[in-house]
Amino acid sequence: MALRNLRYEGDEILRKKSREISVVDDKIRTLLNDLVETMYAYEGVGLAAPQVGILKRAVVIDVEDGNVYKMVNPKIIEKSGEQDGQEGCLSVKEKKGIVRRPMNVTVEYTDENGKQVTLKAQELLARAICHEIDHLDGILFVDRVKK
Ligand code: CO
Repeated sequence: MALRNLRYEGDEILRKKSREISVVDDKIRTLLNDLVETMYAYEGVGLAAPQVGILKRAVVIDVEDGNVYKMVNPKIIEKSGEQDGQEGCLSVKEKKGIVRRPMNVTVEYTDENGKQVTLKAQELLARAICHEIDHLDGILFVDRVKK
């Protein structure tokens, strides 16, 4: 595994749309593991591939619920409720803001072994999933901060 260099707000790559991953191979597994290592090194709860300059639909999340989620091509298929909460981002230094997100989401993704997973998430995990998927579409949390 290796640490990857973070990209910061103002870098054009953070505003681009990431591409679907067609096959989960060793290269993608290495990317996922590097994302996890980089997330922990910077004490984040999630990290998306474009934040290390890779425009592929891969994200990792650890909100301390006992799991490290490695998601390829994650897609929210259901959402309900609302929550307002503070967010920050490793790519947006020294800024925090209140963002409204769904309280519950159901996400479909491919895991590191190429298996299809359907996950129901609430609260902080639901928020993290929404935040990381936004990165894959070139959206930063600051775009969604309530005025
Ligand atoms: Co972020």
